[in-house]
Amino acid sequence: MATIRDVAKLAGVSVATVSRVLNKNGYVNSETEQKVRKAMQQLQYEPNAVARGLAGKRTGTIGLILPDISNPFFPELARGVEDVAQRSGFTVILCNSDDQGPKEKLYIEVLKKKYIDGIIFASNTLVQEDIEQMKRDNLPLVVLDRASSHEAYSVVRSKNFEGAKMAVKHLLEIGCSKVAHLYGPQELITAKDRLRGYEDVAKHFGWFSPSLMIPGYFRIDGGMAAVEELLSRHPDVDGIFAGNDLMALGALKGLKRRGIKVPEQIAICGFDGISLTEIAEPELTTVAQPIYEMGELAASILIQKIETAAAVSELFELDVKLIQRDSTQKKVMR
Ligand code: RIB
Repeated sequence: MATIRDVAKLAGVSVATVSRVLNKNGYVNSETEQKVRKAMQQLQYEPNAVARGLAGKRTGTIGLILPDISNPFFPELARGVEDVAQRSGFTVILCNSDDQGPKEKLYIEVLKKKYIDGIIFASNTLVQEDIEQMKRDNLPLVVLDRASSHEAYSVVRSKNFEGAKMAVKHLLEIGCSKVAHLYGPQELITAKDRLRGYEDVAKHFGWFSPSLMIPGYFRIDGGMAAVEELLSRHPDVDGIFAGNDLMALGALKGLKRRGIKVPEQIAICGFDGISLTEIAEPELTTVAQPIYEMGELAASILIQKIETAAAVSELFELDVKLIQRDSTQKKVMR
């Protein structure tokens, strides 16, 4: 059974492009669309068996377990999942786990009792026994965002390590001479990969010190507290890479409280690309994840698994992009 990756390879495009053609979302030029459709025909790829009324579905519902719906990143992820599910004839049951394992297990049991057709996890507390049990229950599973690659399920995430390096290099290019990093919870692969990316660039400079890396817990208040700690350790710091936008927004507020000008005195770059970054003052530079597309792709992969019983377990890492705004418009003062 051909997979979405086989179609992308034959057409010579990315998996995200195939997903856009399948879901008719986002711009794809006609020449590319024709290549994708030709490849689907050649491979007899069937993206949406719902139209054939395959018996594979039990209830036409899929579960989506998110770790923190108060963080704007996750509703945008859910939007991508829900739009694809709707177009494919599925409804979505949304669960908020608060990053708590016991609550997540409870949701898995509730969802199984509702005979859902598959689950998308956007959290990180899955343990081996959960995975084995879901395999025994023949429950299709896709893990989204916070997952290291795993042979038991497909993973969709963005290039966190490369994105972190992009952020630090940007701060250096605009003239920062000492860059700190506010990092998220290190039990999360996304936070860990971003810290690794920061270190991979910073370690080559004489100013680097581990004391420039401070926890902010992926929260606004965590970012505010982290800049207080940072300035007590390094009053001469002039660049901050925050591992997500909420910490960057908290850092911005903390610096303003101390009368420190952004970007003149300290430039700030975030990570995620949530819409709040556009209305911050100054507007926040960030490394944007393809949040909506990640949700779309995860839903497409899960629905294909549900309808074809394909046991593929693949890792999809999507590109990120730097969106430069006022918080890093620093005059290069050499
Ligand atoms: O802002 C929430 C963070 O948790 C995001 O960076 C996302 O990648 C998730 O891991």
